[in-house]
Amino acid sequence: MYRSHNCGELRLTDTDKEVTLAGWVQKSRDKGFMIWVDLRDRYGITQLIFDEARTDETIMQQARSLGREFVIQIKGTVIERESKNTNIPTGEIEVLVNELTILNEAQLPPFTIEDETDGGEDLRMKYRYLDIRRNPVKNSLLFRHKVTQEVRNYLSNLDFCEVETPYLIKSTPEGARDFVVPSRMNPGQFYALPQSPQTFKQLLMVGGLDKYFQIVKCFRDEDLRADRQPEFTQIDCEMSFIEQEDILNVFEGLTRHLLKTTHDIDIAQFPRMTYDEAMRRYGNDKPDIRFGMEFGELNAVAQHKEFAVFNNAELVVGIAVPDAASYTRKQIDALIDWVKRPQVGALGMVYCKCELDGTFKSSVDKFYDQADLAKWAEAIGAKAGDLILVLSGPANKTRTQLSALRMELANRLGLRKPDEFAPLWVTDFPLLEWDEETGRYHAMHHPFTSPKKEDMHLLDTDPGKVRANAYDLVLNGNEIGGGSIRIHDKETQALMFKHLGFTSEQAQEQFGFLMNAFQYGAPPHGGLAFGLDRLVAILGGQETIRDFIAFPKNNAGRDVMIDAPAAIENAQLNELSLALNIKG
Ligand code: AMO
Repeated sequence: MYRSHNCGELRLTDTDKEVTLAGWVQKSRDKGFMIWVDLRDRYGITQLIFDEARTDETIMQQARSLGREFVIQIKGTVIERESKNTNIPTGEIEVLVNELTILNEAQLPPFTIEDETDGGEDLRMKYRYLDIRRNPVKNSLLFRHKVTQEVRNYLSNLDFCEVETPYLIKSTPEGARDFVVPSRMNPGQFYALPQSPQTFKQLLMVGGLDKYFQIVKCFRDEDLRADRQPEFTQIDCEMSFIEQEDILNVFEGLTRHLLKTTHDIDIAQFPRMTYDEAMRRYGNDKPDIRFGMEFGELNAVAQHKEFAVFNNAELVVGIAVPDAASYTRKQIDALIDWVKRPQVGALGMVYCKCELDGTFKSSVDKFYDQADLAKWAEAIGAKAGDLILVLSGPANKTRTQLSALRMELANRLGLRKPDEFAPLWVTDFPLLEWDEETGRYHAMHHPFTSPKKEDMHLLDTDPGKVRANAYDLVLNGNEIGGGSIRIHDKETQALMFKHLGFTSEQAQEQFGFLMNAFQYGAPPHGGLAFGLDRLVAILGGQETIRDFIAFPKNNAGRDVMIDAPAAIENAQLNELSLALNIKG
C-alpha cells in the first residue's frame, strides 16, 4: 500500500494515527535540529516534521538530501501543530516521520511549482506536466471534469444516448480548413478529420436514435486566438421530432444546471434576441449584455447639417461611455488612434462630452448646436457626465468597429466581471453570408441548416435576406454554442447546395450519402453543439481556453512539449505516396 491517506485529508481529529503518505516535495525548511517538508499531491499539502529529538539520525540525513519535486513515501504519526496554518485545510496537524522512502529523485524544475510561478508561458507549455502540478492548472482540469460530468449526467437523465462517430472521415464543410490524413491503402487519397460530427449525427437521427450527444474532439485548421484551438471539444447534440423551441428549452436547462452546480447561480429565463436586433443594439452577434453602452443610431438627428462625413454615411452610430466626459484631449486622441488601427479600421471618430452642467462639447461643434447634440444624447441614452463616441460609414463595417470599441472600453473600465454571468440566445441568423473573397454566398452556419419557411421565396431574389432556423447560445460576449433545425428532405437539401454554388454532380459526390439517407424516411430533426473548452473557461471566469486544456497547442498551432508537428521519415512518406508531393 503506497498510502493510507492523501495529502489533503488529515485533520486534528486524526491526531495519533499512524499514516502512510506519498507525494512530491514542494519545499523543505531545515533548521538544523528540525526539518519541515511540505508534501504535495493532487489533494493538498501536508506538513511533515523531522525532529532530531524524536527522529532517527539516518532518517534526518535522508530528509536533508530531499530536493524540490522528489517523490517520496513516508510513514509517521499525526500530531497537533504548534503554530497552526489557517490557510490550508491540513494546517492544524503535521506528521512526525519515522520512515522515509525516496521513490524517485527529481531534477530541479525549470520553474517553481507554486500558485505564483516564475515560469513564462513558453517554458510552462514545454513542461506542461510540471505546470499541471500547480494548483491553477490542476484546478482548471478538475473543474473541466466536473462540468463534463454534469453534462453527461444531465443529458443521460433526459435519455440522450452518447455515440462515438468516426474521426477518419470525408471533409464536412463547416467553414474552416480541414486537417487531412493520407491513406496508405488508398494512395493519393485522404481522410479528413471532422470539423464536427454534423452529418453523422444527422444520420443517427435517420437511424432512429432520437436523442444523441457526444463529448467529442473536433479539428479545424484555422488561425488561433485565445478562444480557438486547432483541436477542441464539443458537446455535440441532436434531437428528432423537435422544433427550435424544444432545443432552446433543453439546452437552456443544461446551461442553467451548469450555472447552478458550478456557481450556485439561478438564472430564470435566458433573454432572446434576433440576430438583427443584436447587430443593431450591439453591432455583434455575440453581445456581452453584462453592461450597457448600447448603440444609438444617429442618422435621423445628425444628417441634416453641413457635416459631409455623416451626410454621406450609410450609418451614423454612437455609444455613451459612462462617466467619461472628464477624459482629457489626450485620452480621447488615444481612443481615436485605437479605432484607426488597421485591426479596427475606422477612418475617424467624433466625440461629444455630456458635461455635468447639462451642456455639450463636441469635436463637431462647428456643425451641431446644443439642441442637436441634446438629440444625440437622447438617441444614445447618454446621461450627464458621459462621453459619446460616434462612428460612421457602411452599416455593417461601422457596427463591427463600434462593437470592438465598446468591448475594449468595457475591458478597460472593468465592466466585464468574470463572476457575473449573462447568457442569451441569439436567433434568426441569416441563412447565407456573402463572401467577398470567393464572390459568392456561403452558408452562415452550415449547408444543412433549414431556411425559415416564410423566407424561402427570397432564395432566388434576395438570398442575403433569407433567415435560418439557426441559433447561438452566447455567454458573456462569447459564442458558447450554436445549432439549427436541419433540412430533412432531399429536395430542399439539393436546392440549398445549388444556392451554395454546387453543381448537382458535386453535391451528389460530396453529400450523396446524406441526400440518399433523406430518401429513407428522415425525421424532422435539429440540434446544436457547445464548445466545451469555451464553456468551461467562461464558467471558470476566464476567456483563454488553453488553460482548461491539458495539453494545448501554442499560437502557432504547435505542441512545444512533444515538438509537433514534425517532419517524418522518407520511408513513411513513401508508404503514404507523399514523398514527391512534399519534396517538390
Ligand atoms: P459551430 O461551428 O458553431 O457549430 O461550433 C460549435 C461551437 O464550438 C466552439 N468552437 C470552438 N472552440 C474552440 N476552438 C475552435 N476552433 C472552435 N470552433 C468552434 C464554439 C462554437 O459555438 N456542427 C455545428 C453544430 C450544430 O449545428 O449542431 C457546429 O460545429 O463554442
